[in-house]
Amino acid sequence: MIDHEQPENQGKTPSSSRRDFLKQSSVIAAMAVAPPATVDAVEKGLKEKIVRFEQMPLQVEINGTLQRLKIEPRVTLLDLLREQLHLTGTKKGCDHGQCGACTVHVDGQRVNACLTLAMTTEGAKVTTIEGLAEGEKLHPMQEAFIKYDGFQCGYCTPGQIMSAVACIREGHANTPDEIREYMSGNICRCGAYSNIVEAITEVKQKGAKV
Ligand code: FES
Ligand code: FES
Repeated sequence: MIDHEQPENQGKTPSSSRRDFLKQSSVIAAMAVAPPATVDAVEKGLKEKIVRFEQMPLQVEINGTLQRLKIEPRVTLLDLLREQLHLTGTKKGCDHGQCGACTVHVDGQRVNACLTLAMTTEGAKVTTIEGLAEGEKLHPMQEAFIKYDGFQCGYCTPGQIMSAVACIREGHANTPDEIREYMSGNICRCGAYSNIVEAITEVKQKGAKV
């Protein structure tokens, strides 16, 4: 669990934030005419202040564990998972919402983590590929992907599996064509598509709990 100290600006009014901004602007202007040693000291202090200024609190449950975090508001869910929480099972492919490699579940719905600002998950439950198995027991979809060779290099696989689980939960896995349509947001450069469809079909037909 990560728990940093509260940001310095918490609870300040918009006008005090504006005053801070104006103060910082005038410091930057003064730096233009100051000697180098002074500039270094001011720059260091300013950087520290800006880092604290930008951190916002976020409380989110990830794979069953409540996380109390401090993050920059611009951070995506994908970068939060990979860079801050070291959950690298979720992959970064295109980083533009076009490949599906970063698919995770937020409150049971599949989302592209690269297009989701982490701050929007406040109070939500996030599940990544690391949270799908129950201890040593693989999720039925993970077992089916292994059984049907639903991957080659494996880079797209975490996103494919998260999408496949959601596809069944959404009721969109009734025929191979329907599976292809509702899995079309997940690209596999190795072309394992037919095996992936077979894996999903089996899990659906078995009626396994997903
Ligand atoms: Fe998110 Fe490609 S990395 S869709
Ligand atoms: Fe290699 Fe899908 S298994 S990209």
